[in-house]
Amino acid sequence: MEKPVYILGISCFYHDSAAVLLKDGEIVFAAQEERFTRKKHDEGIPVEAVKRALAYKEITMEDVSAVGFYEKPLLKFFDRILQTYFKVWPRGLRSYHHAMQEWMTKKLWTAHLFKKELGYSGQIYYSTHHESHAASAYYASGFEDATIVTADGVGEWATTAIGTAKGTELEMKKEIRFPHSLGLFYSAMTYYLGFKVNSAEYKVMGLAPYGEPKYVEQMRELIELKEDGSFALNMGYFTYEYTLRMTGRKLETLLGQPRRKPESTLEQFHKDVARSAQAITEEVMLKIVEHAKQKYPSENLCLAGGVALNCVANGKILRSGLFKNIYIQPASGDAGGALGVAYLIWHREFKGKRSGPMPHAYYGTEYGEDAILAALKEHNLPVEKLSDDALIDTTAKLMEGENVIGWFQGRMEYGPRALGNRSIIADARNKENWKKVNLKIKFREDFRPFAPTVLEERNSDYFDLDRPSPYMLLVADVKEEKRAEIPAVTHVDGSARIQTISAEENPKYHRLIKKFEENTGCGVIINTSFNVRGEPIVESPKDAINCFLHTQMDYLVLGNYIVRKEAIGEEQVKDNAEYLERFELD
Ligand SMILES: [Fe+2]
Repeated sequence: MEKPVYILGISCFYHDSAAVLLKDGEIVFAAQEERFTRKKHDEGIPVEAVKRALAYKEITMEDVSAVGFYEKPLLKFFDRILQTYFKVWPRGLRSYHHAMQEWMTKKLWTAHLFKKELGYSGQIYYSTHHESHAASAYYASGFEDATIVTADGVGEWATTAIGTAKGTELEMKKEIRFPHSLGLFYSAMTYYLGFKVNSAEYKVMGLAPYGEPKYVEQMRELIELKEDGSFALNMGYFTYEYTLRMTGRKLETLLGQPRRKPESTLEQFHKDVARSAQAITEEVMLKIVEHAKQKYPSENLCLAGGVALNCVANGKILRSGLFKNIYIQPASGDAGGALGVAYLIWHREFKGKRSGPMPHAYYGTEYGEDAILAALKEHNLPVEKLSDDALIDTTAKLMEGENVIGWFQGRMEYGPRALGNRSIIADARNKENWKKVNLKIKFREDFRPFAPTVLEERNSDYFDLDRPSPYMLLVADVKEEKRAEIPAVTHVDGSARIQTISAEENPKYHRLIKKFEENTGCGVIINTSFNVRGEPIVESPKDAINCFLHTQMDYLVLGNYIVRKEAIGEEQVKDNAEYLERFELD
């Protein structure tokens, strides 16, 4: 038998570093480094993720045929970074020093560092940042051909790109370059609204429905949109070219208020700004997609890059009817670049065949019974093991009403969303659960909405959506007549960020919701990531137990083991303040 070809894709040095392992072109492992190091958005070399990937297939670095890096560091450095600093010189001295240090110590030495940290000394392949994004979506989509649109903060130069693909060929055709960036525009608004850049952009999206688009005219002053979808930012309002901040006084004058202090009260003004920024982002994305369709027609659209995590905009693109099919890969942000570059190497260097569509996002680590049991014993927790049937029956029953459950099963998800293996779940019919989970379990802002998981077969009964949304990347309206039934997952504007689940994708999770539906008639539950604010999603039983003990979660289900809060001694329930301090606020 011929030796299989293992390709390792890596993304790191910016944020959300990740490792992906392909075996003969099929994904066998994919995970983000933050889950192992417990440092949210960890940007370091994904040493731990790589270790897990190799261990998963019981191979060593010797068995890896090629390693790919998701962008071209030299192009980025000598071209963009230096040019930008020379352009804005002498402004930006501080940010220049900061960047120099980063580049000189890390980013320019990829090959050297991979050898040192990962023990890999073979050839490293590089693709451009946006090509990696594009490939991560197209090759995972299963489409025979596609138009591709990528949008993010910035790669080497490109911030937005259009590509086209057919069979195994993929080609990037057009791009918009730094400093003009839709992703950075959105991040600048995130910054202005007092949230953390490269982390809390989704808060702006969640806040937007509370506001009115009163500042759209001001937004047009910031971003000039042309008929062909190209755009230019009015750089007088943005300071990211020469400072470590995103915006300055000029923007505050334009919008009429100073930047919101982090953690201060959110006023109607902030909600209106969020709504206006969201509205203009949707408008720009729609125009780009429209132009892409015109220039490179296909029935299929692949979207990727951080902006493709804006599921409200994605929903609008879907409803525009421009494309028959839309595909967004679950790790659509920079973590996905690791997958993209690995696919590119497989097709370009190894002339490999296309794999089928990516069937699900469960490609991370998993823990067997022994590991779960050991973790429970370490904390001296009462052990209660149930059969498969009893576990489903018991959990479904416990979920009714106000209990909040930590649900830890199988392989961890790839991408920013928990999709039913590292999730906190609760009854979507109980509006109080919205408050309870936000304030007492996740310790996060009360405006933050929750996403539903719906049985795929019941999707259109509840939502105005005619297709599956397996990765929570599409927002659609909750049907008018269903809004009162599932208030905990219906956002203020009547929308929901939907995850559909099928028995093929995740049999156990599907079965649980099916049972819940049998008992209650409701085929929808709350699904939010298993973590507290600022904490990466739990990876191991130990992480899950820690999170459970430090929050007001009622039950913990680890594999077939169940831990009941009511059955454990008061001295075992931990103080949450100390726990929360471990994590930087997001
Ligand atoms: Fe990116």
